[in-house]
Amino acid sequence: MAKWLDNAIFYEIYPQSFKDTNGDGIGDLNGIVEKLDYIKELGCNALWLNPCFASPFGDAGYDVSDYYSVAPRYGTNEDLKRLFEEAHGRGMHVLLDLVPGHTSVEHPWFRESMKAEKNPYTDRYVWTDSIWEEPQGMGCLRGISDRDGACAVNFFSHQPALNYGFYRPDPEKKWQQPTDAEGPQATLAELKNIMRFWLGMGCDGFRVDMAGSLVKHDEEGKGTIRLWQNVREFLDREFPEAAMVSEWGEPDKSLQGGFHMDFLLHFGPSHYNDLFRCEEPYFSGRGKGDVSEFVRKYMENYERSERKGLICIPSGNHDMDRLARGLHGDELKIAFAFLLSMPGAPFLYYGDEIGMNYVEDLVSVEGGYGRTGSRSPMQWDGSTNAGFSAAPAERLYIPLDPRADRPNVRAQLADESSLYHEIRRLIGIRQSHAALQSKGEIEFVYAEKNAYPFAYLRSAGDEKILVVLNPSEREASFACALEPKERLYVFGKEIAAADGRIIAAPCSAGYYKL
Ligand code: NOJ
Repeated sequence: MAKWLDNAIFYEIYPQSFKDTNGDGIGDLNGIVEKLDYIKELGCNALWLNPCFASPFGDAGYDVSDYYSVAPRYGTNEDLKRLFEEAHGRGMHVLLDLVPGHTSVEHPWFRESMKAEKNPYTDRYVWTDSIWEEPQGMGCLRGISDRDGACAVNFFSHQPALNYGFYRPDPEKKWQQPTDAEGPQATLAELKNIMRFWLGMGCDGFRVDMAGSLVKHDEEGKGTIRLWQNVREFLDREFPEAAMVSEWGEPDKSLQGGFHMDFLLHFGPSHYNDLFRCEEPYFSGRGKGDVSEFVRKYMENYERSERKGLICIPSGNHDMDRLARGLHGDELKIAFAFLLSMPGAPFLYYGDEIGMNYVEDLVSVEGGYGRTGSRSPMQWDGSTNAGFSAAPAERLYIPLDPRADRPNVRAQLADESSLYHEIRRLIGIRQSHAALQSKGEIEFVYAEKNAYPFAYLRSAGDEKILVVLNPSEREASFACALEPKERLYVFGKEIAAADGRIIAAPCSAGYYKL
């Protein structure tokens, strides 16, 4: 089922900033259709679209006010349907972003839920029984309605938490409903309706926002896992091909819940930031980083999820700094040699393929705050507004990167030594070697504390590929009995194998068949 995931390479599109075709300064669905060939040429065969539904955009669309309608600024439901068809026609797949945990305060369900009189939406959200009682451990909204109660929020304070019930409701607190109560069950039924609606229209599945947080007071995730198992049963009956990728960060739980893959998160205990986004990132040429903690945590998850390795490592996303804020030039190329040779599906954030920069000092746009600098318009070429939009510059959704030397697609296409071409080559190699793909196994060969290089073995069936990465500007070596035979990829200088050691040249990366 969803076999295509085994070799999926995702391209994440923040629709606001990708390509504007109607000159209003904001990206749209037709713009995405227009650029499908570009994405395919790069080698990506799947898309993740950030939320494109009706919303007041207090959190860039993660505050949905109508799950069944495309936001007019992006186009119509028909346009989205066409996007699915155009993608499928090119052998590509599309995941929409499902936000099951909360809505906007402007959602009609919430407006109904705020009313003092009981109605079908009274229990759609998590409310306490009295305005004076706050739901513990969650922020809340109160004093905004006739209803006497405080409503739990999930993220920003304008995102009330949908009610899927409590794993262990406190019997003293009647407002904590069990997961099988009528209110939580109605919320779950509606969630399935939403999924049914878009899957029926041709979408291939969902990236699920904050997937691990639905059932409340559920520290071990058991209630939430059960809920997703129930959703998977529904999918298996009606849409067995539907692909599900979770924003959870605990693959053992997510996979139990029936997700195909989980995301490695840039917060919490993953040590993802040690690699790319800290004072001394491992992939910096300074060579002062540490990869060992990342590997330790990765292995912990790997073992817990029965060595499935289905955790996706993104190059970046709309929530974190651009990769190019901390890494440059060759460092980026070596970072991609890592990202494109790890298990799970790689996720490439739009613009990372040309090394788009984080735009400093921007005023927050639509709840972006510090994230706004990673959401600036895609830089297509050297023309007006970098080819993103025909609108006057002051009308662009987010200002463009003002740097004179900002990268753009056209220039990188014309330069064989560009980051774009390096990524394209790496994708090509991954696509033709099962060992490098999502389900290939991984074994870390050399990942010592504060040491370089970094080496691991990927394998599938008889195919075994050794990956050696040395981002540091110094030569580095390690004892290794493996004998690299056929070179599949080299960046910088070839490794040397002598006297039971593998020696990696400064700033180099290589994939070798054993
Ligand atoms: C995670 C999303 O990626 C982020 O952009 C959003 O603000 C929160 N979830 C809340 O939905």
